[in-house]
Amino acid sequence: MARSVIVGSGAAIPPNRITNTMLARIMDTSDEWIRERSGVETRYFVDPGTATSDLGVAAAAQALEAARVAREEVDLVISATMTPDHYFPGNGGIMQAKLGLPPVPSYDIRQQCVGFLYGMHLADAHIRAGFARTVLLVGAEVHTGFMPYSPANWEYLYGRSDVPPTPEEWAWNTRFRHLIVLFGDGAAAVVVKAAEGGERGVIDAVLHTDGADYQKLYVPGTGFKHRPYTDPEQFRRGDHIPVMDGRYVFKVATTKMLEAAQEVLERNRVRPGDLALVLMHQANLRINEYCQKALGLPDEKVHNNIQKYGNTTAATIPLLWDECVRAGRVRPGDLVLMLAFGAGMGWGALLLRA
Ligand code: ACO
Repeated sequence: MARSVIVGSGAAIPPNRITNTMLARIMDTSDEWIRERSGVETRYFVDPGTATSDLGVAAAAQALEAARVAREEVDLVISATMTPDHYFPGNGGIMQAKLGLPPVPSYDIRQQCVGFLYGMHLADAHIRAGFARTVLLVGAEVHTGFMPYSPANWEYLYGRSDVPPTPEEWAWNTRFRHLIVLFGDGAAAVVVKAAEGGERGVIDAVLHTDGADYQKLYVPGTGFKHRPYTDPEQFRRGDHIPVMDGRYVFKVATTKMLEAAQEVLERNRVRPGDLALVLMHQANLRINEYCQKALGLPDEKVHNNIQKYGNTTAATIPLLWDECVRAGRVRPGDLVLMLAFGAGMGWGALLLRA
């Protein structure tokens, strides 16, 4: 049975670097609070008009180049995002066309912060079944649409205007501060190829979903539970912006990521000490520090970049992978563990040999 090997990766980070101090210009927050509670120092935002698919295409083009894979070779596209360009169709086909790929099958999956792991599992399943040989998997997000800032606030944030928020705007932005300071825009992609024989490739994955508490992290408005699915009243209430019970999510994330790690390691008789690298979803540095400690991993075996990019949802793990590959931190034969938790609630772990 063929194994699924990541043969190339790429990333796209938008141009506008926003520090915590800049955010404190438009809401009641501080560099100290954000750094201490989450580890985030900066995040990057797209310019108006740049869509998730644009970032995804840039990352995908880089991944194809790194993999030395011709466009005609790609026989499956998987797009993971919770911030698609349009309600429908999904971004898979949009990116397929922009990249000039053949009219191959394309999946649009969501799964939020676990999207990349679900996408890798889907790619691996297709490769093992012989349905695909060269899969392009893209995790991309433009979260700026969730930001509650008025156009004038955006200008002030960037330092391009002298007009500060009104007291009403300040209070409105501050209402969402526990959530909006965490997120940034970004994309990353991998090319996964079938390899016959050899040890390299995806070894195993465990994926879980429990929707019982989905309302602990969700977007209450702009869905087809409403008729019409969007209206000005929803926007006035702020129902287009995610609701998050941060403490609950923090607690469940640490528990479930650890459980998934232990499940996949035990099932494959791998000890944490055998791992060369652990890449965890970047939602909060403190979650990852907790898991690192519980697994007894030294710093050199864990890579985080939430400090620079914030939470880029489906893009976090491929972004980490791409950085590690380019820095020479992934060597052929290395055992790598990927862990994620996110809205849904969904969580999982994936073990591969690089
Ligand atoms: N700046 C300043 N103060 C703030 C901010 C802010 N940005 N946000 C909240 N506070 C204040 C609160 O108002 C509260 O003040 P009070 O004590 O006076 O009432 C205090 O700080 C503590 O607030 P909490 O929300 O309880 O803070 P907590 O320590 O839990 O940190 C955080 C919040 C960072 C969101 C944390 O709970 C967390 O990271 N949770 C997990 C997030 C996550 O993993 N999400 C999943 C991925 S996202 C996805 O799947 C789409």
